[in-house]
Formats: sequence, structure tokens, C-alpha cells
Amino acid sequence: MTLAVRKGPLDGRVAIVTGGSRGIGGAIATLLAEDGAAVVVSGRDADRLQRTAKELEAQGGAVLGVVADVAIREDAERLVDAAKQRFGRVDILVNNAGVIRDGLLVRMKDEDWDHVMNVNLRGAFLLTRAATKLMIRQKSGGRVINIASTAGAMGNAGQANYSAAKAGLIGFTKATARELAHWSILVNAVAPGLIETDMTAGISPEARAELLAEVPLKRIGTPRDVAEVVRFLAGDGAAYITGQVVHVNGGLYM
Ligand code: NAI
Repeated sequence: MTLAVRKGPLDGRVAIVTGGSRGIGGAIATLLAEDGAAVVVSGRDADRLQRTAKELEAQGGAVLGVVADVAIREDAERLVDAAKQRFGRVDILVNNAGVIRDGLLVRMKDEDWDHVMNVNLRGAFLLTRAATKLMIRQKSGGRVINIASTAGAMGNAGQANYSAAKAGLIGFTKATARELAHWSILVNAVAPGLIETDMTAGISPEARAELLAEVPLKRIGTPRDVAEVVRFLAGDGAAYITGQVVHVNGGLYM
């Protein structure tokens, strides 16, 4: 596949989507490819990545799957290098990889705190540093889109680690938006509410009903609901937006 295969608003641009083989990341990779971007999807499961890459290619996308753990510096840097080697550049970075390790604070293990911080927050730092160094050298701007969470804005009981990591990601978004504006690199966050993915599949029917009762739109969100906003923030229509948090939550948090 070559970059010239598709025609769309993101033609000629190269995007990295971490954790892009399923769920919200999978939907983001699909829509960016639909808009013409060459997409590099990363994840930890080689087989699943391969399947996702094949599916996107079957729809006419230019895709590369890279096995990489975002929390490991060497992996993050290798991911950016692989994108540059295969497609020549990087224009869009979507820091989507995320994990939960829920538990009440008083029972939370150190490892559960550290792991959630490492993947959700350190991972975004490592990838953003590596990718924006390249974007600065390219001298043609860029976009960084961080997938935060409603939890980072309102806090969730049982998710002190995750809420802190996502709130940290929002602070990181604003600080880097200020720093990188000089090079026309725009940094924004998208904060999803309750979205139907593997991450939320384990919520009991009772807890789900309770959560949904708090959502004015009275439905659980889809990965596509989130991906549509990422697609917009990656495109030319979002040229004057930086340092913002766009909430996609059916009204759960206003
Ligand atoms: P998911 O569990 O389906 O997908 C998470 C992805 O991250 C997977 O592809 C997984 O392999 C990848 N990942 C996890 N650890 C990784 C690591 N160390 N290195 C590389 N990749 C890693 O979950 P979902 O829902 O699609 O989550 C995507 C993002 O959206 C996450 O950042 C999550 O925190 C956020 N989010 C999800 C919400 C939901 O209700 N599903 C709500 C708010 C935010």
C-alpha cells in the first residue's frame, strides 16, 4: 500500500495510534485511515495487531502494526522510528493506550498505582516527547490528541490511580500545548465518559444501570462517538484549537 491510495482530508499525513488494535483506539485508527492518513497502530498483542492492520488494509488504508509497550522508553522511541521509516514522517499522535486497576484507596497495591500511572501518563509523556521531536524537525506542525477520561475531571470512587493519571494527562495536555504552539503543534485531550469496550465489559449490570441513570442521553457511548471527535481534532477544521479538553460523555459531566 502506498500513501497515495486514498483521497481524503488527511491525505499524505501519518498518524500513530497507541493501543490501536481494539476499542476506542481501533475506531480512531479506522476513521483516520478513512480520512486518508497512513496509520501506525501499536499494541502489545502481535496477532491482534496483525488482524487489525489487515482489516484496515482491506478497506484501502496504509497501515503498519508495531508491537510496543508505551510505558517503556525504548519501545516508545522504536514506535516513532518505525513510523518514520515506513511512511517518512509523523503528523498526528493519538495517546490512547490505557489501563485500569480499580480498587479502594485503602486497599490499593503499590503495583496497581504504578502500573496505571506508567501506562496512562508516563506512556503519553514518552510518546509525545519522541513524536514531537520529529514533528519539530519536520517544520510542518502536528497534532497530539490525548485520550483522558471523565474520571480525570470529576474523580471516580475506586479509581484513585486512574483518576489521578487522567487528571495528570489533562495537565500534561495544557502544558505541552503551551510549549509546542511555537511549532504549530496543537495538543488537545478527549475525555470519554462510559464507552462500550473491553475496558467496561466487566461492569456488573447493576452498576451499569446506576451509571447510566447519571447520563442525560441515557445510553452508553460507542468507540465511534469518541473517534469522531479525534478525527475532527486531527483535521484542518481544528486549526485554532489547542490545550482543550473535549468531553464525550452523553452529559454525564458538564
Ligand atoms: P481497551 O482496554 O479496549 O483498549 C486499551 C488499549 O490499550 C488496548 O489496545 C491495549 O492493548 C492497549 N494497552 C494497554 N496497555 C498498554 C501498554 N502498556 N502499551 C501499549 N498498549 C497498551 O479500552 P478502551 O476503552 O478502548 O480504552 C482506550 C482509552 O480510552 C484508554 O486510555 C482509556 O483509559 C480511555 N477511556 C475509556 C473509557 C471507557 O469507558 N471505555 C472511558 C474513558 C476513557
